Amino acid sequence: MKLNNITACVFDAYGTLFDVNSAAAKCKEKLGNRWESFANAWRTTQLEYTWLRSLMKKHKNFWQITEDSLDHTMETFKIKKNMRDELLNLYKELSTYPEVKECLDNLKSKKIRIAILSNGTPDLLKDLVKSNNIQNYFDDIMSIEAVGIYKPDPKVYEIPVKKYNCKPENICFLSSNTWDVSGGGVFGYNAVWVNRLNKIFDKLDYKPQNIINNLNQLLEIV
Ligand code: LAC
Repeated sequence: MKLNNITACVFDAYGTLFDVNSAAAKCKEKLGNRWESFANAWRTTQLEYTWLRSLMKKHKNFWQITEDSLDHTMETFKIKKNMRDELLNLYKELSTYPEVKECLDNLKSKKIRIAILSNGTPDLLKDLVKSNNIQNYFDDIMSIEAVGIYKPDPKVYEIPVKKYNCKPENICFLSSNTWDVSGGGVFGYNAVWVNRLNKIFDKLDYKPQNIINNLNQLLEIV
């Protein structure tokens, strides 16, 4: 479905622009064939910690949470301690999904604002876009650190609405994380689900009108 009156395309970062499994994938040989279950467990624990810390009102930044969740997952999978620094360094320069650059290129010619809204800290996000050489595409990189609570708290989704002085429905929000699409959608965004892995959507009071398999399909929507 074509969207009208879009002020900005706002992208989630981890899992949407940047491949969260790419750090563990680069250590496939050392991690063995459990690398993917290990990567998924690390990601799930990391997200759980963001939600739990928000509920407990005990905020720690996303990098500290990434370290804590890695420690827990390494212990669970009995991974040798000397892999910790390697995995963390690789997490600081996660790769983008293959179509990201092309999508941003095409979007840029549409003269719509392009932004990131992420759990990541401002420094992490700055380094990520830089290491993938996509820093020049973004008008704004917004971090939840501005409000000190994680997605899906509505205060987070308010950040771009306040910044652009627009209505929630003027934001086309893109995320591969179903719960983030639900959070943004319930808030009032036109939320688009990037369903790369053919998954089932959440039962959380929002159904995205637009579901795409990869970011290149965004150009048919805005
Ligand atoms: C982010 C997490 C949700 O980038 O992936 O905000």
